Amino acid sequence: MDKPEHHIFVCASFRAGGETKGKGGVCQKKGSMNFLPYIENEILDRGMNAQITSTGCMKVCDHGPVMVVYPQGFWYGEIDSEDKIDAILDAIEDGKAAKEFLIA
Ligand code: FES
Repeated sequence: MDKPEHHIFVCASFRAGGETKGKGGVCQKKGSMNFLPYIENEILDRGMNAQITSTGCMKVCDHGPVMVVYPQGFWYGEIDSEDKIDAILDAIEDGKAAKEFLIA
């Protein structure tokens, strides 16, 4: 099997035990899951060797919706529009970070 060159994690706010109380659930409430089909299509359109995975809460809820790109280890916050996703995918293709959205 060929491993993907890039792995994009999108927070879906899951918590052990299933609860999303307090600040939890922010990413999902802010629509993070609605962007999955868009990201999938962009990966295909761009011919990127990338995989997308939805994750549990990444414990940076104040910055939600959160996206993380590996192997670079770029953590992005407030990713709430297709324009921001495009900027991140452009940066991946260019081998850079989309610095304006970095939280870590
Ligand atoms: S719900 Fe996404 S970081 Fe906590």
